[in-house]
Amino acid sequence: MPSATPQPVDTTLTSAAIFLIFTLDPGDGDDGAVVRDLYGDLSSLVRGVGFRIPDGRLSCIAGIGSDAWERVFGEPKPKELHSFRAIHGVHEAPSTPGDLMFHIRATRMDLCFELAAAITARLEGVARVVDEVHGFKYFDARDLLGFVDGTENPVNQAATDATVIGDEDPDFTGGSYVIIQKYLHDLKKWDAIPVEQQEKIIGRKKLSDIELPEAAKPSYAHNVLTNIEENGEQLQIVRDNMPFGEVGKGEFGTYFIGYAKTPTRVERMLDNMFIGNPPGNYDRLLDVSRAVTGVLFFIPAADFLDAAPT
Ligand code: HEM
Repeated sequence: MPSATPQPVDTTLTSAAIFLIFTLDPGDGDDGAVVRDLYGDLSSLVRGVGFRIPDGRLSCIAGIGSDAWERVFGEPKPKELHSFRAIHGVHEAPSTPGDLMFHIRATRMDLCFELAAAITARLEGVARVVDEVHGFKYFDARDLLGFVDGTENPVNQAATDATVIGDEDPDFTGGSYVIIQKYLHDLKKWDAIPVEQQEKIIGRKKLSDIELPEAAKPSYAHNVLTNIEENGEQLQIVRDNMPFGEVGKGEFGTYFIGYAKTPTRVERMLDNMFIGNPPGNYDRLLDVSRAVTGVLFFIPAADFLDAAPT
């Protein structure tokens, strides 16, 4: 069991979230000091905003990309921190810019918004927002395809075991990795697919959320391709997907966010989805869902952020 305190990765699903992605401006000064300074104050900022609404469950997770790590912290570097690798399979998973990530969650959007504004103000002049998504809970935790999303997430100790780095990288015990991808759905195309076929694509019943019996699941079902094992044991990740969109633009999306103690787990799932397992047996969700971003971040332990040198 790692001794460092992790950031609140395994927070149970909330009804509001903001995903903020920044890129650092090219600068010759020590912009890293501004970021380290913010990291050192982050827990205090969350307390300051969150204390006003005690049952609002405000939390924030800070992530940092591979190139930014070198600028902000230098050596040593977390062992598996690298840029997101684009996948060119049956469908494309692009790799897009992103140096800093803030995953802000609460039961109310006002809390998320206030904290997002405070973080952005602190980074003024050194970093700019390149993607900002406001996610909402949709009925009984459904995605905009109409399926309940998050059911098989590990909880409690299983969530910690799935996400928190232990002795395998002693300098970064208590840390995690995350991969984010923004997906846009073609809802007209999806709605034209009969519900029984949609259920085969996901591997669960649409209304009741009950898992299809193994024999009824096709080999391309989403929950077959994302179920990966090592030595007979399932390798889990913690997801907190959120719907988002703008009806006027016809934009209907899912913001995928997957935390794990090693990025390899998420990468294996993505290969199975985009290339297929075996190759060609890909995830049919992708025929109606286009990945438009893809970034990998390291999530330092909370103690590491608190102690960030300025
Ligand atoms: C399961 C939706 C992308 C990994 C599910 C479920 C739904 C869903 C409805 C079944 C309920 C549940 O257990 O949560 C989506 C949508 C996506 C998406 C709408 C984007 C368009 C991804 C990606 C990954 C992933 C990119 C990993 C790289 C998983 C895993 C499960 C799951 C591990 C649980 C499988 C099991 O063991 O039963 N997803 N997902 N999903 N998804 Fe996704």
